[in-house]
Amino acid sequence: MDGHATDTFDVAGLVPGFQPPQPAPAQDDAQLAAADARMRHWREPADGPLVPGSDRHGDATCRMFRDTFNPYRPAVLDWPVLEPAVRDRIVALPIWDIAVQTEGKARLRMAAYAGTLRDPAMRDALALNAWEEQRHKDVLARMVAAYGIDLAPEPVQHPPRDPEWGYLVTGYSECIDSFFAFGLFELARRSGLFPPALVDTFEPVMQEECRHILLFANWAAWHRARLSFLRRVRFEAKVAAVWAFLAWERIGLARAMDADGARAQDNNFTLHGAQSVADDGVGVRDLLALCVAENDRRFAGYDERLLRPRTVPRLARLALRLARLFGRRR
Ligand SMILES: [Fe+2]
Ligand SMILES: [Fe+2]
Repeated sequence: MDGHATDTFDVAGLVPGFQPPQPAPAQDDAQLAAADARMRHWREPADGPLVPGSDRHGDATCRMFRDTFNPYRPAVLDWPVLEPAVRDRIVALPIWDIAVQTEGKARLRMAAYAGTLRDPAMRDALALNAWEEQRHKDVLARMVAAYGIDLAPEPVQHPPRDPEWGYLVTGYSECIDSFFAFGLFELARRSGLFPPALVDTFEPVMQEECRHILLFANWAAWHRARLSFLRRVRFEAKVAAVWAFLAWERIGLARAMDADGARAQDNNFTLHGAQSVADDGVGVRDLLALCVAENDRRFAGYDERLLRPRTVPRLARLALRLARLFGRRR
């Protein structure tokens, strides 16, 4: 008995016909390493362009997601015994409620949208993504139980009234959050304030988020290219509204009600997080540069013909360029 609370979310309840991955048999170290390498590298064997919106592009996107699936099991993850000071630092991080609730929201929104798709391969890919969010939630729940972290009661979450809006909010949120999480994670690793064993345990989760936003960026390009003119205009307006909503939420102008009526999370933990994972603090510029480098590194193993999320890395590169220019002038 590990004190871990069971959570019975079933993706197939929202995506009829979805077959969850079978539990992987126990694996030795070589098999685990092979699965890890498979998760990080993928290339479409056939040459030629992957034109956004084409059947080939959709097919490659879905196969990338299926082929890079890592069958790790949360139940067998090792939670290292921590020094009391390290454990206290981890327990005190103000992110656990947000993290658990975000995974819960992501699985629900992804499954809800997947259930509306007619293309069977894309439906399966998005449903698998929802299943992986469920697994992230399971990993977090086990960690929370292992280290005695107290969580606030989770609000009941309902499927979004507009599944496409819900999926877009979740997808673009992941694009923003993962970009910063990649840098913060590396900062935590380099600082040595978190034991390597704990960093290793979370590494597959971090790489999975990279796969998720790779899937999202390619779904978005595939989806928008297949819309009629009028539907495309409507879609682009919705995307613009999603970005405005996310900017509003993150700038912290208001703890607005989100589309489902749930309280939006405090999403300003990137810099607070940087203070928590590095003893001597870290400048915004160094953190941004690290996020850019880590983002490039995590995507480097995937076929370069698949599209990457572009907005946040571009904004970060622009900010770094401006900071350099401004720094020189002074
Ligand atoms: Fe996740
Ligand atoms: Fe994700």
